[in-house]
Amino acid sequence: MAYQYLLTTVEDGILRITINREQKLNALNRDTLKELNQAIEAGLKDGKIMGVVITGAGEKAFVAGADISEFANFDQEQGGDLARSGQAEVFNLIHQAEKPIIAAINGFALGGGLEIAMACHIRIASHTARMGLPEVSLGLIPGYGGTQRLTQLVGRGNAMELILTGNMINAEKALQMGLVNHVVPADEVISKSEEIINDIAKRSPRAVAAAIRAINAALVAGEQGFNIEIDEFAKCFGTADFKEGVSAFLERRQPEFSREK
Ligand code: COA
Repeated sequence: MAYQYLLTTVEDGILRITINREQKLNALNRDTLKELNQAIEAGLKDGKIMGVVITGAGEKAFVAGADISEFANFDQEQGGDLARSGQAEVFNLIHQAEKPIIAAINGFALGGGLEIAMACHIRIASHTARMGLPEVSLGLIPGYGGTQRLTQLVGRGNAMELILTGNMINAEKALQMGLVNHVVPADEVISKSEEIINDIAKRSPRAVAAAIRAINAALVAGEQGFNIEIDEFAKCFGTADFKEGVSAFLERRQPEFSREK
């Protein structure tokens, strides 16, 4: 199937999905998310596919986040819908997939981009990758599971620092924190991801699916957290900070947030 914002190829039983909006650093607009849902669903249904690699087009970005220009005028209800539908259709679909899905992080993985990578089962980063959840700079919080999955992956203290500062970290730091599994040269992110899928493909597919279900079950205690994240994310859309943060990004200036209550 041909997509507007994705390139998909199948080689030796591995589906490679390349998010392809290079001019916008592969930012996730609504249609890209819809296409990701379709491409992943198709790959999971296809008995010939052993696993999926997700990456970004070009050398600069994996995905630089949700498309800020699309939600700049959203209100609280629309913000809640954005997070809820995105989580269900893409992020939880990846997380719960019963075939391995690996993020090949080839550049910036920010906001929703890092959230896609964190929903994947395994993350391979290039030396050039930079990762972060900069939503607080926009007057928002992560809304695609970031507060939950980052905490599960790197612990409360590291998650607090990364989310509250909104700062980016490099691949080495991400490896040290446990945010990524391996760091490799830029031209090896795909081959390393495929090597791991090929290893997994030698094992029992039913046992692999069972192991994914069981590992995911270890994290179910956090389920309520995903709903709290959606509510808090939605409430941000009703604040002056959100309007200021998003306007500042679109006008290419630093935001000025008021400290008054
Ligand atoms: N949403 C919409 N557009 C985005 C985007 C996003 N998340 N990230 C980048 N873009 C667009 C830019 O607006 C720019 O478009 P233009 O050329 O039409 O003006 C293009 O992608 C290139 O980005 P630019 O900012 O010029 O590149 P840079 O090298 O100066 O900076 C980043 C790179 C990643 C640091 C910067 O783009 C950035 O901070 N992006 C937003 C990250 C973010 O806050 N993500 C979380 C969203 S919830």
